[in-house]
Order: sequence, then structure tokens, then C-alpha cells
Amino acid sequence: MKKKVLGTLLSVAMVASMLVGCGGGSTETAAPAATDEAPAAEADAPAAAADEAAATTSGGGKVGVAMPTQSSERWINDGANMKAQLEALGYEVDLQYAEDDVQAQVSQIENMIASGVNCLVIASIDSSALVNVEAQAKDAGIPIIAYDRLLMDTDAVSYYATFDNKGVGTAIGKYIEDNANLDPANPQTIEFFMGSPDDNNALFLYNGLMEVLQPYLDNGALVCKSGRTSFEDTCILRWSQETAQQNCENYLTGFYADEDLDICATAFDGFAYGCKAALEGAGYTDANWPIITGQDAELMATKNIISGKQTMSIYKDTRLLAEKCVTMVQAVLEGAEPEINDTEQYNNGKIVVPSYLCTPVAVDQGNYKEIIVDGGYYTEEQLAE
Ligand code: BGC
Repeated sequence: MKKKVLGTLLSVAMVASMLVGCGGGSTETAAPAATDEAPAAEADAPAAAADEAAATTSGGGKVGVAMPTQSSERWINDGANMKAQLEALGYEVDLQYAEDDVQAQVSQIENMIASGVNCLVIASIDSSALVNVEAQAKDAGIPIIAYDRLLMDTDAVSYYATFDNKGVGTAIGKYIEDNANLDPANPQTIEFFMGSPDDNNALFLYNGLMEVLQPYLDNGALVCKSGRTSFEDTCILRWSQETAQQNCENYLTGFYADEDLDICATAFDGFAYGCKAALEGAGYTDANWPIITGQDAELMATKNIISGKQTMSIYKDTRLLAEKCVTMVQAVLEGAEPEINDTEQYNNGKIVVPSYLCTPVAVDQGNYKEIIVDGGYYTEEQLAE
């Protein structure tokens, strides 16, 4: 821990009351109107993947793709990849974004059912809020594929395409373990910024992260001065960047007036942006900049990694995820066999959903060129803009 010379410590109770946790007080602004189509994706590789898929199969029918929000780049890419790959196979696609408004997503799915889609692909906003509309789809004989986020409390879902969500957490934890010099003789301070409590992925990530880091919290190599280490205390409703920034500001003011925060363990690139803004506001510089983790390897996050303002992110190739999901659509519509690699972990409260888990990869300054640029996800030009 690096001691600061000056600073006033606010009372812990006062700061705790200022923090915005999962339950309420989200600083989110009203959701913009739901839109029809995603803007073009940043990555141009989906087209290549789609061409390859088209060469092997052709299909027909209409697929409704319900995505959560365009406020984060990854979902824009997910939607664009799904649309391109399905269209290349001959499917008609109705792609909708609900801008993190749960009711808007319910209405969009109802409209898709009414318009006669043959299959639904859903990346939910609130995993448990779609039970009724999922039952409607089932009654209408429309199969559902869960995309990235598990659909909870329903038996209407056929398959689940995702990344290894616990693996995301362990990869972030291992990155911290390997790079933070964790030694009880020289403790490092850490604060946690975890995902949305209505997203099943968030708890999986937290559990993976803590599997690695809890021993270091126990032996004193890691010190969380706010005392907020539980999922309940650190989760952030709807993955709000603003709330992450606000929480980070409050932590810095309340607990780090006389020493530096060394590690922001965040579950999402959006949270990393929020922490970056809070740290800049608090006067942190290159000399005392903390380790900041993230998830998604968004374009801005990758640029921040290059400039040193974010330390790492978890790269999730959305082209690959779309590819796996498309094979599931084909399976339910054409009787093909989708590739499944997990039939145990994803119990949604009603059934264990057969799943395909893609592998997440940690990226930082040392390997982003090899993984992200050579992998065709972003070009050097995009990263230099
Ligand atoms: C996804 C993450 C994403 C987060 C916020 C999660 O469900 O798995 O990749 O960062 O949502 O959008």
C-alpha cells in the first residue's frame, strides 16, 4: 500500500450510505426508444464467418433476435454478427434492441411471436423477467435459444450459447494474482465492481474471481478498505457505468484519502471506464495508476489498454459466439446436431440447459496484437484512431 501524506477520512458509515449497490438508486438515465437495427459492427470479420457458414448449409424461416442494449459495443457486435450469419444461411432476421428496458424487451418478443418468427434468440436484460413471454413462445411452438445470458425459471429454452462465465472470473482473478505481486508483507488495496444481480453471468463471474482472490483477502495480501467484498455489496444493477464511477468516487473519497487504491477488480469494460474517470478526477497519474480489469475487450477498452489506462480485459470473440448460436438455431429448425460442451453447469431453476461454452481469453499490452489484431477483431488502424 502506498501511503498518502494528506487526506481526510470520511466516516465509513457515511460513505457506505453514499454507495449505490444493486438494490436501488441507479443513476441510469431513461432508456432511449427501442430501435430496429444495430449500426454496423466495428469488426469486419463476421462477414467472413458468415460466408464460410453459408458454404455449408442453407435454411429458411424467420428468426427473432432480442438483444439487451446498444449502450455497450459488445452487444452491437453480437447483433450484427448474428444477423449477418443468419442471413447468409437464408434466414430472415428481426433484430431488436431494448436499451435495458425490461418491459420494452417483453413487448419486442411478444411482437416477434405475433409476427410469426420460427425461432427466438434472446440475450435478456433481466434473466427472470421473460417467463410469461417464453411460455407464450412455447405454446406457439417457437423454440428459444438463450444467447450469452441464461434464461432463468423456464422450460421453454432449448439451448444456451455463452462463454465460460465462471472462467471469465477465474481469468480476471489469475491475472491479478500473476501481476499484482500479492504478498502479505506488502499488502495491495483492492475494490470490487461486479455485474448485475439480474444477470446470471454476474454471480458466476464473481464466484470464479473469488475462488482465486479469497485466499489473498484472507491472508492479508489483499486489503479491501471499504469492506465490500460480497456479491450483494459489489454488484451493480444493469451493469451501469455511471454507478461504477459513482461507487469508485465514493470509495476513493471515503477510504483512500491517505493511501492509494492499487486494484480495481471490475467485471466489465464499462466499469473500467467509470473507474478511470473517477481516478482521473481524484488526481491519479501514471505514477500511482492502479491495475484495472475489465471484460469484453471493447474497442475503447483495447485503446485504453494500449495507453495504459486499463490493464487488461477479457476478450470474448462475439463472431465465435454467434457461430455457435447459429448452429443451435439450425438444430431446432432443421433437426441438425448443435455442438454442446456442457450439460451440467447451467441449471436455470427448471431445467439444466444444454450449453456451448466458448473460452474467454485475458488480453493486455503483451498479447493484444496477437489475439485481437492478428485474430482480425480490430485493425491497427481502428486502434490508432
Ligand atoms: C456479458 C458480458 C458483458 C455484460 C455487460 C454480461 O452478461 O456476459 O460480456 O460485459 O453482460 O453487458
